[in-house]
Amino acid sequence: MRAFVFMGPPGAGKGTVAPIIAEVGNLLHISTGDVIRERMKDLHDEWGQRCIPYMDAGNFVPDDMMLELLAELLTIHEGQDLLFDGFPRTPVQAKALEAMLNKHGGCLEKAVLLEISPATAVERCGHRRTCTSCGEVYHLLIRPPEKEGTCTVCGSELELREDDSADMVARRMANYEKGIAAIVAYYGDQYKLVRIDASCPVDDVVAAVVKILVK
Ligand code: AP5
Repeated sequence: MRAFVFMGPPGAGKGTVAPIIAEVGNLLHISTGDVIRERMKDLHDEWGQRCIPYMDAGNFVPDDMMLELLAELLTIHEGQDLLFDGFPRTPVQAKALEAMLNKHGGCLEKAVLLEISPATAVERCGHRRTCTSCGEVYHLLIRPPEKEGTCTVCGSELELREDDSADMVARRMANYEKGIAAIVAYYGDQYKLVRIDASCPVDDVVAAVVKILVK
């Protein structure tokens, strides 16, 4: 069981690049943001319902809840090679990921940090539209849908994510910045950190990641 992690601020392109890399590397892509949003929709999912106040405020879901989720994911996907998108976000999560992977006989191979400026984060989140049904992600200027407001893949309605307003992006960015330095130091000390300039076009970001991960 090998694992890779993709980290970066809101709008860095984790959700755009990670599925492509997962396909190339035969990894299972797990976005903790997507898992949380999906589970929040299920009124019978007690864990998902507990996430709502944190997500509504633009805050991280607490570590104890995220570790509960991680344990479940590693059990469900036992034996598979994984690409985590948006996990870890705190040093507690980084250390727990390694410990739990070891317990499952696995290890963390690389931690990829996609870097963009705060201004790019606000711009990308503001122009992002997400399909309410299949989750396909668009950018109104760079990757617009064929028909305005409609998903090109499945025809469902597109929406601006609730946490993509300028003030929520600023809050998410502030939370991200609080945790990231310690995680970067942690992976840097283990020579597992890979920094990627994610301000360039998607194809260039993908090529840079592939070059480093597929050696
Ligand atoms: P999550 O959904 O993971 O949000 P995020 O980390 O803020 O990242 P985003 O989804 O905003 O951006 P992205 O990097 O995926 O960018 P994307 O590819 O969509 O998590 C949401 C929330 O859940 C968190 O804020 C937190 O509250 C909670 N959470 C999740 N994990 C947690 C954890 N481990 N612990 C605690 N809480 C957790 O791209 C953005 C836009 O830019 C798109 O329109 C795209 O088309 C465009 N784009 C992408 N790349 C490029 C490029 N290279 N050039 C031009 N445009 C691009």
